[in-house]
Amino acid sequence: MTTRAQISEAAQFIRENTKVTPRIGLILGSGLGILADEIEDARHIPYQDIPHFPVSTVEGHAGELIIGDLEGTPVLVMAGRFHLYEGHDAAKVSFPIRVMKELGIDYLLVTNAAGGINESYEAGNLMLIKDHINMMFRNPLIGPNDPDLGVRFPDMSNAYDVELRELAHRVAKEQGVQLKEGVYAAVLGPSYETPAEIRMLRTLGGDAVGMSTVPEVIVARHAGIRVLGISCITNMAAGILPQPLSHDEVMETANQVKGMFIRLVKGLVRE
Ligand code: 6GU
Repeated sequence: MTTRAQISEAAQFIRENTKVTPRIGLILGSGLGILADEIEDARHIPYQDIPHFPVSTVEGHAGELIIGDLEGTPVLVMAGRFHLYEGHDAAKVSFPIRVMKELGIDYLLVTNAAGGINESYEAGNLMLIKDHINMMFRNPLIGPNDPDLGVRFPDMSNAYDVELRELAHRVAKEQGVQLKEGVYAAVLGPSYETPAEIRMLRTLGGDAVGMSTVPEVIVARHAGIRVLGISCITNMAAGILPQPLSHDEVMETANQVKGMFIRLVKGLVRE
C-alpha cells in the first residue's frame, strides 16, 4: 500500500534535486524515450535514487526522471515506466503518479507502444486513446482509501479528457500528423496475445493492445489529474499479419515514428 509519507519523501527528494516546478507529467513508452533529448536544462534523476520508487528492468526503458523545459513549459518526464509483468503490484507501478500530483502536476501525457487490433490501422500509426478496457484485472486503488488522495469510487467516464483530445486532434492537424483515435485494451503480458485473444479483444471493442498505462491512468484520475494518452501502433497484433511478433519490431517502428511523435508532443505541450 502507498502511504502519504512515502509520497512526500519521494517528492521532497525530487524537489531537492531541481529548481523547476513541473506542470505537465509525461510518460514515455517503449522506444519513445528519444523525446527526453528534447528537454532543456534537464536534470536527470535515476529511479533507483528516489525513495520508494521501483526500478524498471525492460530493454528500451532508461529508468530515470528528467525534469526541465519543453517548449518553454516545465515538465517532468518519466523515461521508462514500471509494468505489472515485471512483478510490481499495480499501486507500485503507479506510485510515480502520486508523486507527480504531490509536486503540483495537473496534466499527464501518457504514451505507450501498442499492437494494432483494428484492421484499418498499420504499424507506425499514432492513436489517441479515447478510452480503455482494463483486462489486467488489477486495480491500483485496491485496499483502504485515503480520502486526502481521492475518492473511494472514482469516476472513469472522462478518463481520457475530452477537451485534451480535441486539442490533440487540432494540434495533429496543424503539425500534419495523422492521428487515429481508439480504445486501448490493457493486458498483463509479458507474452503477446494469441490470435484468439486478439479476436476476443476486437469483439470487446479494443482497437489496440498493450501492457501498461491503465494503472497510471486510474491513479491519475483518482488524484484529479487530467490525462491525454497516445499509443504508437508499433506492430499489428497476433493473427492479422503472417509474421510473428517481436520486441525488436516494436523498438524499430517506434524509432521510425520518432520525428512525428516528437512534433506532436511538443505541439501538445506548447498548447
Ligand atoms: Cl501485439 N500486444 C501487447 N500486449 N503489447 C504490445 C503489442 C502487442 N505490441 C506492442 N506492445
